[in-house]
Amino acid sequence: MLNTERLLCERVLFVEQLRIRGGVPLSGEIAVHGAKNSSLPLLAATILGKSQSVLHNCPRLSDVDAAIRILSYLGCAVERSGDTVCVDTSQLTHFDVPEDLMREMRSSIVFLGAIAARLGKTRISFPGGCELGPRPIDLHLSSLRALGLSIREDHGFLDCEVNGRLKGATISLAFPSVGATENILLAAATAEGTTQILNAAQEPEIIDLAEFLNACGAKISGAGKSTVVIEGVEELHGAEHTVIPDRIVAATYLCCAAATGGEILVRRVRPDDIAGILPVLEQTGCRIYTGEQSVYLKAPGQLKPVKSVRTMPYPGFPTDAQAPVMSLTALADGTSVFVENIFENRYKHVAELARMGADIKVEGKVAVVSGVRTLYGAGVDATDLRGGAALIVAGLAAEGETVVSRIHHIDRGYEQIETSLRSLGAQVERRPG
Ligand code: EPZ
Repeated sequence: MLNTERLLCERVLFVEQLRIRGGVPLSGEIAVHGAKNSSLPLLAATILGKSQSVLHNCPRLSDVDAAIRILSYLGCAVERSGDTVCVDTSQLTHFDVPEDLMREMRSSIVFLGAIAARLGKTRISFPGGCELGPRPIDLHLSSLRALGLSIREDHGFLDCEVNGRLKGATISLAFPSVGATENILLAAATAEGTTQILNAAQEPEIIDLAEFLNACGAKISGAGKSTVVIEGVEELHGAEHTVIPDRIVAATYLCCAAATGGEILVRRVRPDDIAGILPVLEQTGCRIYTGEQSVYLKAPGQLKPVKSVRTMPYPGFPTDAQAPVMSLTALADGTSVFVENIFENRYKHVAELARMGADIKVEGKVAVVSGVRTLYGAGVDATDLRGGAALIVAGLAAEGETVVSRIHHIDRGYEQIETSLRSLGAQVERRPG
């Protein structure tokens, strides 16, 4: 059976749902798992080190499993024990990544820079679009070409090659793309000479990746700022690293407590990483106190609207928090306005929220949310990872029962979400679809 057929069968056989009985105020404390959007580039980065790397706090998510499948295909010896993943890349046997593995998740493009830098060639397929609309990779390709990688596009595949080492260059990004910044860091770390990234992404995951690469022997400075300098070194060794907490998962749990009139202590989170989100939650009337590695939230009796939420590159309000926060404002006593500036199709959860009684009008990048007194449980479909999270937030607050289908989207980024929510008093169970 072809890989794609196997994947399809698995998908059909294991379609699961979450059944949520709403109206229960959440309360208690919860620890946040490691960041999906840090784990994926970190796993790709292990390819650069010619010995074993160990990643702690690596979340058990389907996207992480997909990245591990790519590493295994390439010939890495990968072992997971709990949230620790050990990767030995001393015996790489392949330089290509088969289409079905590339298409399992869009962010597999981040393997391109690492494989090309380590092996001097690779053949991968376009990672394909995703639920958020077309996901172009032009910034990735132009940046890697600037470093000397020749890339031939051939019927949906990318044949890439470089004679000898990649060469350092100054690269100015038209948009501070997270993935393109990561691909440049991975490719430039062992390039000949110095690379400068201008208008680099500044997300915490970029800093996490640079810290791991420097532990492997790289010489990267300025990560987290808009100009990053990488002095190429001959080769890298493996290293041990702990993945940062997932800031979007932390934000999602805060939204769950806020939407249900509850209170929550979120632990193992770095408040600075969600500094763009906390003021928005305070505008809804939530009381928030931050500790060094924790955030406490107490919900108001009645949520207030948020004048405007504009998604921006870090440190602005993150696009990944737009959908969960929108569910919150659907219950506010007034109108909130969202402007989605990062992705062109990131309102697919709106139609599903409308089935629960939400009053939301979308016009291009703008969504106008007119708060309602009550949301009602309904059968809804997760359309993408964070859109699915938004339906869970709404279902926890709604009157009656909500059944969320297609939850494989949610399992990409939330580790056993039903177990975590039940620990906060939620009435939620996973069941076959
Ligand atoms: C990363 O995606 C995250 N994924 C996304 O999280 C996150 O929403 C996004 O950054 C923005 O913060 C991972 O880290 C695995 P971008 P990425 O390149 O790297 C356009 C989630 O829910 N663009 O910063 O793909 C692109 O179309 C996911 O966890 C180009 O035009 O984001 C988008 O409109 C969703 N050309 C914008 O830039 C390119 O070559 C931002 O993309 C690359 C991107």
